[in-house]
Amino acid sequence: MLRIAVVGATGAVGRECLTLLDDGIVPVGQVVPAASARSVGRDLAAEWGLSLPLAPLTAVEDLDPDAVDVAVLCAGAEVSRREAERLAAGGVLVVDNSSAFRMRPGVPLVVPQVNPGALADRPAGNLVSNPNCSTIQLVRALHPLHELAGLESVVVATYQAASGGGVRGLAELADGSARVLADPGAPPEEAGGEAGGEAGGRFGQPLPFNLVPEIGLQDETGLSHEERKLAREPRKILGLPELPVSATAVRVPVFHCHSEAVHIRLRRPVTAEAVEDALAATPGLRVYRRTQSPSYPMPRSVFARDEDRALVHVGRIRVEPEDPRAAALWVVADNLWVGAALNALQIVELAVKQGWLS
Ligand SMILES: NC(=O)c1ccc[n+]([C@@H]2O[C@H](COP(=O)([O-])OP(=O)(O)OC[C@H]3O[C@@H](n4cnc5c(N)ncnc54)[C@H](OP(=O)(O)O)[C@@H]3O)[C@@H](O)[C@H]2O)c1
Repeated sequence: MLRIAVVGATGAVGRECLTLLDDGIVPVGQVVPAASARSVGRDLAAEWGLSLPLAPLTAVEDLDPDAVDVAVLCAGAEVSRREAERLAAGGVLVVDNSSAFRMRPGVPLVVPQVNPGALADRPAGNLVSNPNCSTIQLVRALHPLHELAGLESVVVATYQAASGGGVRGLAELADGSARVLADPGAPPEEAGGEAGGEAGGRFGQPLPFNLVPEIGLQDETGLSHEERKLAREPRKILGLPELPVSATAVRVPVFHCHSEAVHIRLRRPVTAEAVEDALAATPGLRVYRRTQSPSYPMPRSVFARDEDRALVHVGRIRVEPEDPRAAALWVVADNLWVGAALNALQIVELAVKQGWLS
């Protein structure tokens, strides 16, 4: 039976990996949780009520490659840069959630519903990258439309939840919001930063009751790190190296689920019905047609049910009356499931099907 390590098991994504494994998404013989040395001794099965076969939590540097077949890394790019290749060299198939290897040639960047062919063969380096959370929901909505009428260009604005900032991001929004409600006149910097944490907190700016139009550092052109990922990663996944993708990434004071306003230009004219039908025929997508009420998904309703957390939701589907090659969509998905843990475990599922891990 499959032996799987979850590195970063105490974090927001790691916890969702354990939850999905507990639900049986992939049959496992043993799950080895790993995190920093600070967390050794924590009993995650007891803390979170899990019944999966969980080994004692280990520090990642003590994780023995001979003890596992596959490792899902969700401990940040620094840990991935340090540990991924050690594990991969030891024969472990590594599925990495960080940005460390995504654009490296030879490392497949995989969304199983979009480019499963990237995993036709076991990668020589034993490394597979999980795309950025905002990229995954974007390409899952774009792929059927590319097949329908050919993508020419994409403009996207993201509305990204605090859970994208991990456990600390969630705590910071909760604590900061409570402080604003307790003292609405307090200066924003006192209400925003992480409780007892560094200045600027997890999001660089106070997030409660605010909008922060900068996710990750800006480069010399003014593009933020998140915006660069949103431009590059869809090209690699969709196999469209020249596709222009222009992004504005915004952190919003929502706990869970990223939303995206997406404007696309297609090579051939379409109708809104054809766009709805193409999306509705795609497994894993839920479409909100213009005739429905509401005709759009929202983060809180998507997060409310596990069934919805596992899907990409698309609504507000429009085609410009004066330009039938221009369409617009509103896309919502749970960044912790669709954008991270679920995609990573679906890659593992694919690897099991390929017979690489038996
Ligand atoms: N949150 C999202 O929506 C999302 C979506 C897609 C991808 N990702 C990626 O997934 C990764 C995890 O994100 P997250 O949101 O789950 O973060 P998080 O909640 O902050 O969790 C971080 C995890 O990494 C571990 N860790 C931190 N420093 C470590 C070290 N030096 N050695 C070993 N373990 C260490 C932490 O362990 P301790 O508890 O022991 O510190 C914790 O388990 C990141 O690469 C992120 O970019 C996140």
